[in-house]
Amino acid sequence: MLTKIRRLTLKKKNKSKIVCLTAYSKNIAEEIDQHADLILVGDSLGSVLYNYNTTRKVNLKMMIEHSKSVRKGIKKSIMIVDMPFDTYKNKSQALKNCKKVLKETKCDGIKLEGGRELNNIIKYLINHKIPVIGHIGITPQTTRGKYRYKGKTAFEKKKLLKDSKSLEEAGVFAIVLECIERKLSQEITKTIKIPTIGIGSSKYCDGQILVTDDILGLTNSKMKFVKKYINLKKNIRNAVKKFQSDVKNGSYPSIKYSY
Ligand code: KIV
Repeated sequence: MLTKIRRLTLKKKNKSKIVCLTAYSKNIAEEIDQHADLILVGDSLGSVLYNYNTTRKVNLKMMIEHSKSVRKGIKKSIMIVDMPFDTYKNKSQALKNCKKVLKETKCDGIKLEGGRELNNIIKYLINHKIPVIGHIGITPQTTRGKYRYKGKTAFEKKKLLKDSKSLEEAGVFAIVLECIERKLSQEITKTIKIPTIGIGSSKYCDGQILVTDDILGLTNSKMKFVKKYINLKKNIRNAVKKFQSDVKNGSYPSIKYSY
């Protein structure tokens, strides 16, 4: 695992962009693995797959089951699992849950949402050989109300810069910057030595991550930063309609599809 992490850090040094996407199942992970450096089993699966209105409803069991499936589809990418809300409130709880996730899913590391308030927990996990990625900016587990980008005010700027430095100091090997203002993302990326992975945080980050279902057009995300690369919803609809008509008119199953 350490070599995989070092490779990621080297990418920052060599100014080679880091490609990251989410996956919740083997079939999707298998396709992403060829082209990504890192695959995240994000707790975004709560809204994407289960239609929850908050990621707070996602629990450890769900994360573990989806991660086991994803693991089967990954050969080369770094696999990271999001620790769900309320599973890392203190050092001993965090260690117990992270160990369980690592053991049962065989992932390479975990991601925690939050800034310098998590430092003691992160240091404790790293001392116990658990690789950790940080996540600041919009942190859906704790953000209330409407999502709005971060880094607008001087107070937010100072806080996010401080958070990123202290997370680096605590030992995380990368930080996800979610919806952070362009110039501030650039400043954070320049200031810290570990890679920044942006989502809605501009081209200045060392890498980018998006929710795979968003780029495939499987969700109705209206977020400004989401780029839809294909409209899979439409493709699925067309395929299902064709199947329906084949079944109805008897052209499926033909001899070719029969024993
Ligand atoms: O849960 C998730 O998918 C995430 C990414 C959007 C960074 O945390």
